[in-house]
Amino acid sequence: MNRQPIGVFDSGIGGLTILRSLIRSLPHEDVIYFGDTARVPYGTKSKDTVLKFSIENVELLLRHHVKLIVVACHTSSAWTLETLRQYFRVPIVGVVTPGATAAMAATHNGRIGVLGTASTIRSKAYERALRRLDRSVSVVSQSCPLLVSLAEEGWTKDAICRSVVQKYVAPVLKQRVDTLLLGCTHYPLLAPMIRRVAGRSVRVVDAGRQTARAVTEILADQGLIHQYHRRGRMTFYVSDEPERFVQVGTTFLGQRIRNVHRVSM
Ligand code: DGL
Repeated sequence: MNRQPIGVFDSGIGGLTILRSLIRSLPHEDVIYFGDTARVPYGTKSKDTVLKFSIENVELLLRHHVKLIVVACHTSSAWTLETLRQYFRVPIVGVVTPGATAAMAATHNGRIGVLGTASTIRSKAYERALRRLDRSVSVVSQSCPLLVSLAEEGWTKDAICRSVVQKYVAPVLKQRVDTLLLGCTHYPLLAPMIRRVAGRSVRVVDAGRQTARAVTEILADQGLIHQYHRRGRMTFYVSDEPERFVQVGTTFLGQRIRNVHRVSM
């Protein structure tokens, strides 16, 4: 079983930021990544729709005999993780609890701002996850729909980006949060700008490293870590034309993307 790949899915390109952390921690694992580029975005959609898509995504990954699945999409994790775990026997790791854990470790004053898609914020999954870790925590949530487009366009450093980030983040900062949790796959690309706008006294954290840690723990517990010391293979599947995925995804993953196949859902 330990030679089987890890499966990762996202609504499209964004989950590559999570994959980046994963391959840094587990470089010998083979990975099958599915980006649902034909049906992106999930961040504007209802729970029912996101659940239907997510079940199909898990089924697709299971056809590749994955040993564990990472739901890299925050919107999907927020709405569907518990249901997916009831439906499927394969271990499934989401990004919400890891993100919340990272934010709890970072905060000193117990006041945390959560930035995410409209759908993720509507789900209140981050509030619940944070409160499970510490009931006294104060959470200020803000949906930031434009940030996904800015990240995909690569507009992460200019004045337009700065003013959009300012507009979303200023009301959150007013609530005296000392930590901003990036509750969306795309926001790590905007982290330098978010840090600039928020100032030095505010910590900006994302779910990547903690998600990789959660995956490593489960694989180690179940004796599923790949034993061979060679670089893992990455295979990508997308539900629309691969071209844009390859082009934009390279920035998200931090390396060239090869081995991409189109599948129809
Ligand atoms: N992957 C989504 C998330 O992390 C962002 C893009 C989308 O809306 O599908 O919530």
